[in-house]
Amino acid sequence: QADVFTFDPGFTSTAACESSITFIDGDKGELLHRGYPIDQLAAKSHYLEVCYLLLYGELPTAAQLEDFTSRVTNHTMLHEQMLNFYRGFRRDAHPMAIVCGVVGAMSAFYHDSTDIHDPWQREVASIRMIAKLPTITANAYKYSIGQPFVYPDNNLDYASNFLRMCFAVPAEEYVVDPILARAMDRIFMLHADHEQNASTSTVRLAGSSGANPFACIAAGVACLWGPAHGGANEAALNMLREIGSVDRIPEYIAKAKDKADPFRLMGFGHRVYKNFDPRAKVMKESADEVLGLLGVENNPTLQVAKELEKIALEDEYFVSKKLYPNVDFYSGIILDAIGFPTSMFTPIFALSRTVGWIAQWKEMIEDEKQKIGRPRQLYTGAGFRDYADVENR
Ligand code: SDX
Repeated sequence: QADVFTFDPGFTSTAACESSITFIDGDKGELLHRGYPIDQLAAKSHYLEVCYLLLYGELPTAAQLEDFTSRVTNHTMLHEQMLNFYRGFRRDAHPMAIVCGVVGAMSAFYHDSTDIHDPWQREVASIRMIAKLPTITANAYKYSIGQPFVYPDNNLDYASNFLRMCFAVPAEEYVVDPILARAMDRIFMLHADHEQNASTSTVRLAGSSGANPFACIAAGVACLWGPAHGGANEAALNMLREIGSVDRIPEYIAKAKDKADPFRLMGFGHRVYKNFDPRAKVMKESADEVLGLLGVENNPTLQVAKELEKIALEDEYFVSKKLYPNVDFYSGIILDAIGFPTSMFTPIFALSRTVGWIAQWKEMIEDEKQKIGRPRQLYTGAGFRDYADVENR
């Protein structure tokens, strides 16, 4: 019997870890970051402040936040030679493939912040990843649409800087719309960390061997890409667009219930939440607010999403299996309204989740009890047998 942690009264796992960063109650639909509920943080905080909270365990004072913001801001540029990596990709490469490759390439550049046993190098690696993921992600978008890279502008806040790097072009003046910047920052906050999800567990497992921290984050990017995980936000908007109108919803509900059909409602269901994903609630309110402020409240995709949610939540199948909208159900509607193509939805999720991956990686590395991860298996293969020569097979 492998080590078993008492993870939560009545909940034990052979693969669980101890963590003080994020708490989820799947039955109540609760999500706390260092004890603070996600809905309060989404309403009152902003992404860099949540980054500080996740990394250091407390909300920062004004001076601490100013210092942290300054350190992140001063690391937003990439080593100029890293831009060469982009030109090795086909133009039609999925931006997640590019982000995964370029984040991994950071392990070949920032050698002064890869000694995981040096607290200062761990700190610098963490700041660099939070600071550079927007630049890496925006460059992936620019490369995919054949536009020149836009360098960061350190006079802008984190979300505004990202929007400008994505949507500005050298030929024209670009002014960040504060409505979009606030919506972008809230998207970042709502995706920042989420306990031991698949990609975070991937980062922890990779990091447990002492691997290069940048390479560990690249492993998290790779895992997040899957449609059962972070890739669901892209798949959910594509599904909502394919449904197209509320009268076609029953057809898709039937498909999702048909065991013979592999189709699932994208953006619905969760490994842990058997109630509303609290992030989905905030995301739905944000979609209403942003599209209303932009004057597109009658967006047909939003109407389909709301009606699909309503019908599904009244359907015996979804009710009995406790399937509710998750973080990916409404996020794509907001990202689409901001101006992103669906291919950029998961890279933006990865950008947002980088701080969660790093906070969990640091927590693990700094735990003196930490050992290399080694999940066990239930063996179901052949029993012992002697080798048979080919003429006797
Ligand atoms: C994220 O772990 C995290 O925290 C992840 C995440 C994070 O922040 O890191 O929250 C982000 O990944 C959210 C999930 C995004 N994925 C999707 O929206 C893809 C669609 N959803 C599913 O594929 C599914 O719900 C999963 C993958 C999320 C969970 O799959 P499970 O573990 O099979 O779900 P389950 O055990 O709760 O399923 C119970 C039943 C099953 O049917 P039975 O085998 O009991 O007959 O419900 C069915 C499932 O087939 N089911 C669905 C469904 N999700 C589950 N049926 C139709 N549509 C769905 N979306």
